[in-house]
Amino acid sequence: MVDRSKLVAGVFVAGSLIAVGTFAAMDHSKHDPSMHGDHAAMMQQKSVEDKRELVLYPRPVYESTLRNMREHLRGVSQVQRLVGEGRYTEAAEAAERGMGMGHNHGHEGNASEHQFMPPGMMSLGRGMHMAAAELATTLRDTEVTDDLQAVFVAMGKVTANCVACHDAYRLQPME
Ligand code: HEC
Repeated sequence: MVDRSKLVAGVFVAGSLIAVGTFAAMDHSKHDPSMHGDHAAMMQQKSVEDKRELVLYPRPVYESTLRNMREHLRGVSQVQRLVGEGRYTEAAEAAERGMGMGHNHGHEGNASEHQFMPPGMMSLGRGMHMAAAELATTLRDTEVTDDLQAVFVAMGKVTANCVACHDAYRLQPME
C-alpha cells in the first residue's frame, strides 16, 4: 500500500514544480527587459518588433525636432533642480522655456513640422505644451503655497505626454 502522506507530498511537489514553471514562463513574457542589463542586450539583438508608427520629416525638420526634444529633457531636468533648491519662479520660467507653448518647434522655429504629424501625435504634442503651461502656473503658486505635491502632480502630467508620444511614434528623415 502506498504511504498516503508520501503520495500527498509527491503530488504537492509536482504541483509546485508546474506552478514554478508556469510562473517563470509568465514572468519571462511579461517582464521589462530594460530592468536586466545582460538580458536587455540579448533581447535587443533579437530586435524586438517595433510597433511604433513611423513618421517621416524632411531632414532639417527632423534635426530641429530632435534638438527641441533635447531642450524638453533639459527643461525637465532644470525644473527638478530648481524645485529642489526651492526656486519655484525660476523653475516656472525653465518649464516655459523648455516645454511651453512658446517653445515653437521646427526648422524656422515656427512649428513647421505640424504639417507632417499624424493627428494623434499632434494632440499629444499639444497636451504636453498645455501641461507645461499648467506646471508653470503651479510652480508660481508654490511660491505662496509651498505645496510640493501639486508640483509633482503637474510634472507627472507633463512627462505622461512625453512617454505616451514616445511609445506611439518614431521619426525618420525623408531622403
Ligand atoms: C508629440 C510627440 C512627442 C512628445 C509630446 C515628446 N516627444 Fe520626445 N520624441 C518624439 C519622437 C517621435 C522622437 C524620436 C523617437 C525615435 O525616432 O525613436 C523623440 C525623441 C526624443 C529625444 C531624443 C532626442 C535625440 O537627440 O535623439 C528626447 C531626449 C526626447 N524626445 C525628450 C522628450 C521629453 C523630455 C518630452 C516631454 C517633456 C518629449 N520628448 C515629448 C516625440 C515626442
